[in-house]
Amino acid sequence: MVPVFSKVAVIGLGTMGAGIVEVFAKADFPVYAVDGSTELAERGRGFVTKSLERAVSKGKLSEADRDATLERITFTAELSDLADADLVIEAVPERMEIKHSIFTALDDIVRPDAILASNTSSLSLTEVAAGTRHPERVVGMHFFNPAPVLQLVEVITTVLLADDVADAIRDLALKLGKKPVVVGDRAGFVANALLIPYLARAIALYQTGKVSRVDLDNACKVGIGLPMGPLTLSDLVGLDVVHEVCEVMYAATKRASDASPSLLRQLVLAKRLGRKTGQGFYDYSADAGAEEDAGTDAMTASAAIVGKGELATQLAGAFAKAGVTVTAIDDPETDVADLAGSPLVVLVGGAEAECANCDSGECDVEGKDADSACCSGAAPGNWFSDVAEVLDARTVVLAADEASEFAVAGVLDDDVALLPLRVHQETKHGQVAEFGVSLGTTDEQAAMVRATLTAAGFVPVAGPARPGLVVDSLLFQHVGDAVAMVDAGYATPQDVDTAMTAGCGYPRGLFAILDDLGADVVADGLLEQGSVDPTVVPNPLLVEHAVRDLPFLD
Ligand code: CAA
Repeated sequence: MVPVFSKVAVIGLGTMGAGIVEVFAKADFPVYAVDGSTELAERGRGFVTKSLERAVSKGKLSEADRDATLERITFTAELSDLADADLVIEAVPERMEIKHSIFTALDDIVRPDAILASNTSSLSLTEVAAGTRHPERVVGMHFFNPAPVLQLVEVITTVLLADDVADAIRDLALKLGKKPVVVGDRAGFVANALLIPYLARAIALYQTGKVSRVDLDNACKVGIGLPMGPLTLSDLVGLDVVHEVCEVMYAATKRASDASPSLLRQLVLAKRLGRKTGQGFYDYSADAGAEEDAGTDAMTASAAIVGKGELATQLAGAFAKAGVTVTAIDDPETDVADLAGSPLVVLVGGAEAECANCDSGECDVEGKDADSACCSGAAPGNWFSDVAEVLDARTVVLAADEASEFAVAGVLDDDVALLPLRVHQETKHGQVAEFGVSLGTTDEQAAMVRATLTAAGFVPVAGPARPGLVVDSLLFQHVGDAVAMVDAGYATPQDVDTAMTAGCGYPRGLFAILDDLGADVVADGLLEQGSVDPTVVPNPLLVEHAVRDLPFLD
């Protein structure tokens, strides 16, 4: 018989449970909201009331609707009250023994045909189900934080589940205005299996001390356009939850990047769990000081922009607007002797132009890439190497693309700071200009570059000068994980994109991003990243798409 849901119960009134109660009550369902004691049930009432008040104060809910919503909820500490529930969703802490004791108790309370759902984000649903008297009615119904806002519901099936239950839960999710994705029982399901390793990589990078927390968050929020940076998001999700999902993921995959970073473990042991305890990667207490602003005091007074193209024009304009005296050189015939002693020289996408033979396909530079028609601007005596020859340790050189970097590497004196610069596409949060620092970069040089980029209107991100810097190393590996999930036959590209947009608020799904970038660009980027971290390897399906130039989405 197809289940019908008239009366719903939610057990566990923490952040997630209270959010789920609100979702059902707002959709006109009578809801039992249960926690382990009267105090905890009252605390849950407080969470729901506060959230509804917030909606009222924003004009999204009338006071009458708030009262009607609250009236539909029965807050209780008694499981025995649930005898007439058609659907019970547990959202208690992620410990198997707690889940088992609740489901065992429910076996004696609810009707045999009532559906028991778990909001678990990390435990094996099959193990939860197998411990009950009727495993065929145990299903996963996984909501995302904040549950009233995010639309994804992962409906998790097991090999024990009765045929019609997943469909009934999917239809229910649709009735709640959510976007369901039905998948099997695998560590992390879809969204967490992609989100949590990305968060863990970001945390692992942060713990090296090579990137500040604000830069790391800006790299993803501003650089990629995600709703929050990974450290802010970890604090929202709860560091204990991130840690638990890492443990489950690592146990299942044994992939180094899934392991819980030691800093995360330490914060969990220290009970700094993020927003819910007032401190995590950030301090949420009322007296926490604001993040220090580096200011623009250290910016350069003058800079040379050498090169051609849109980016060269943008940088020259933005620097000039910030009060920097700009020398823009876009003609290879210009005498560059005057650049000696410049504090800042930016080389931009002009490298190909210096070898006249490249354009005609007749370049015969010794040692050029055998498969390539040209030397990519590496020709001896080229424009950029003329610039490189006049510079000394007084100058910081920013190379805005690989070709520019390649054109001067080996020509510049060893004591000249050559830093990679990548200006990313503007997103709704701003535009990231990311630069790489290496062992020879001094604090003063990094501060000068940061201050100049800030004054020019960019959001600066400084990280290690390694392939992909911060933005592309996190993004490409995140996208690579999504391809591996599809290659494993667990989810479709469409499922993944629904999960990440509806569950994590991404403005575009990972496959939409991948198709935009091109599979070849991501595969090449991962290969490069693999040159410094052998655990990073492009998935074979990604390589197939790259070779055949095929998008993942229609
Ligand atoms: N309850 C109810 N509504 C909330 C809310 C909450 N806790 N938090 C925010 N909102 C509402 C706000 O009222 C606001 O609504 P309006 O636009 O209609 O006014 C809207 O959400 C946007 O909020 P803000 O303007 O305050 O802030 P924002 O634009 O930065 O959005 C956010 C906040 C919705 C949390 C957004 O940043 C986001 O989507 N972040 C990503 C969160 C995410 O990835 N969650 C999934 C984590 S993984 C998980 O939960 C699964 C697991 O098992 C671990």
